[in-house]
Amino acid sequence: MAFPDQRPRRLRRTPALRRLVAETRVTVDDLVAPLFVKEGITDPEPVPSMPGVLQHTQASLREEVRALAGLGIPAVILFGVPAAKDPRGSAADAPDGVLQVALRNLRDDHGDDLVVMADTCLDEYTDHGHCGIVDATGAIDNDATLDRYGAIAVAQAGAGAQVVAPSGMMDGQVAAIRGALDDAGHTGVPVLAYSAKYASALYGPFRDAAECAPAFGDRRAYQMDPPNAREALEEVGLDLAEGADMVMVKPALAYLDVINSVRSAVDVPIGAYHVSGEYAMVLAAAERGWIDGHAVMREHLASIKRAGADFILTYYARALAEQLA
Ligand code: PBG
Repeated sequence: MAFPDQRPRRLRRTPALRRLVAETRVTVDDLVAPLFVKEGITDPEPVPSMPGVLQHTQASLREEVRALAGLGIPAVILFGVPAAKDPRGSAADAPDGVLQVALRNLRDDHGDDLVVMADTCLDEYTDHGHCGIVDATGAIDNDATLDRYGAIAVAQAGAGAQVVAPSGMMDGQVAAIRGALDDAGHTGVPVLAYSAKYASALYGPFRDAAECAPAFGDRRAYQMDPPNAREALEEVGLDLAEGADMVMVKPALAYLDVINSVRSAVDVPIGAYHVSGEYAMVLAAAERGWIDGHAVMREHLASIKRAGADFILTYYARALAEQLA
């Protein structure tokens, strides 16, 4: 006896049917492009572990962002690489610091037509590469770090950042930044909290791009432990209580369960960071001809959206936008 056709399969028969009934769509509106801008270079420098990603000059950054905006990408997030680093990360909130210059340029170029986000952290600016102020024992001084984060967020907002995104996983960072922004009159600048940021082995290529590998130790005492999922909800709850406007899960693919449970628990927008290692792995395998890199990227980004993310920070943003155009 022939088994009768069943509905799900009948609806898979043609590309048009599949398109019609797709539950998840990744569109250009979902994309945030992470970009690096470096002080003191005259030409953009490729990042070897991230094919297609550059450390930009101020000029090449402006050009790249013009192209991204032209493709309809709604947002970028900027990371600064300063020429000089010190223990307190002074360049992070200097008015003429590399990121502040970039923010002013992009704000001049795009006004309110583009969401320009700033990563608010210290590791790119400290000589020891940690995300905070280090005390005499080598531990992070949480409260001294909060003062720095507040000052950095104010400098970034003053330079034109439309969203600040604290990524250091310090306790109280969202409250400290919200308070500092409000005191400085930046009440309309939202905080995108990297709430569930794991101490992941997938950040290696980023640390090449941002030149921020820790000089000693690791980040396990402040970033989350990969086995923990319930704890992510606690971190998200704390950040929302402190005034976060949006929350983030990072990395994305190894933490789809976390994205999904955060989605069930809260109604604020959720960002997912498809991080450097996730990007590099796909390109490395594709380069060897072992996988179809573009197809895998699209599948990965769809899975991140399907898990519940509202937007995705991804180094693949430009390539996907070009395919969707
Ligand atoms: C820290 C920061 C990191 C990333 C974004 N912000 C690195 C880290 O925590 O070591 C990683 C992003 C990526 O891997 O793409 N400011």
